[in-house]
Amino acid sequence: MTVISSEKKKLRNKYRTLRQKLSVNTQKRHAKKLASNLNKLKAFNQAMHIGMYQASDGEIACDHITRQSTKQFYLPKVLFHPKRSLLFTLWQGQKPMTKNRYGIPEMSRPKIRPIRQLDCILMPLVAFDNQGNRLGMGGGFYDRSLAFKANRHSRKKPLLIGLAHECQKASLLTTDPWDIKLDWLVTEKKIYRFNYRS
Ligand SMILES: Nc1ncnc2c1ncn2[C@@H]1O[C@H](COP(=O)(O)OP(=O)(O)OP(=O)(O)O)[C@@H](O)[C@H]1O
Ligand SMILES: [Mg+2]
Repeated sequence: MTVISSEKKKLRNKYRTLRQKLSVNTQKRHAKKLASNLNKLKAFNQAMHIGMYQASDGEIACDHITRQSTKQFYLPKVLFHPKRSLLFTLWQGQKPMTKNRYGIPEMSRPKIRPIRQLDCILMPLVAFDNQGNRLGMGGGFYDRSLAFKANRHSRKKPLLIGLAHECQKASLLTTDPWDIKLDWLVTEKKIYRFNYRS
């Protein structure tokens, strides 16, 4: 168990450093290209209620995705009690936001939508692999909130779409039983589909 955790820790350090090293211009270029790739994805185009995130730590930004969109987007709000999980709250553009303890802005007066009523979630990540495995920042917030999707044959909403820079692709990630896999992953270069549910 300790060995597995330390392996994830090493991978996190490696891939966080890689994405943090990207220049501001590269970040902007990737975010724009990713948004255009995502718009080619039918599963995304059909979605109306979409979870997204405020990028930090070199994560690829969602600004080009939300711009001029008629869809409704929801930002995660971190809940520490009773369990470390996420609530998704309606993103209302210019409405006031408050920074959480990680320094990430959240809606100040949240309008909550239950996670099972989201059509898809655009998920940030530290690294991904060819099998749809996802390495997060290590809080277990997404894994805990999405534990109801653990059955590999589950077709329950929401559809999980990882967003990343291509340089965040790892050959094979170390995983734990609680790790929730992605359905799709989009980078500035391409769209990956993971078929493990069929
Ligand atoms: N379904 C769950 N129930 C209880 N604890 C969980 C669950 N999922 C994850 N955890 C706990 O969360 C901790 C962090 O998990 P992990 O290293 O997989 O985080 P992560 O996937 O990087 O983070 P995140 O899910 O926020 O992106 C683990 O130590 C694990 O004990
Ligand atoms: Mg995990």
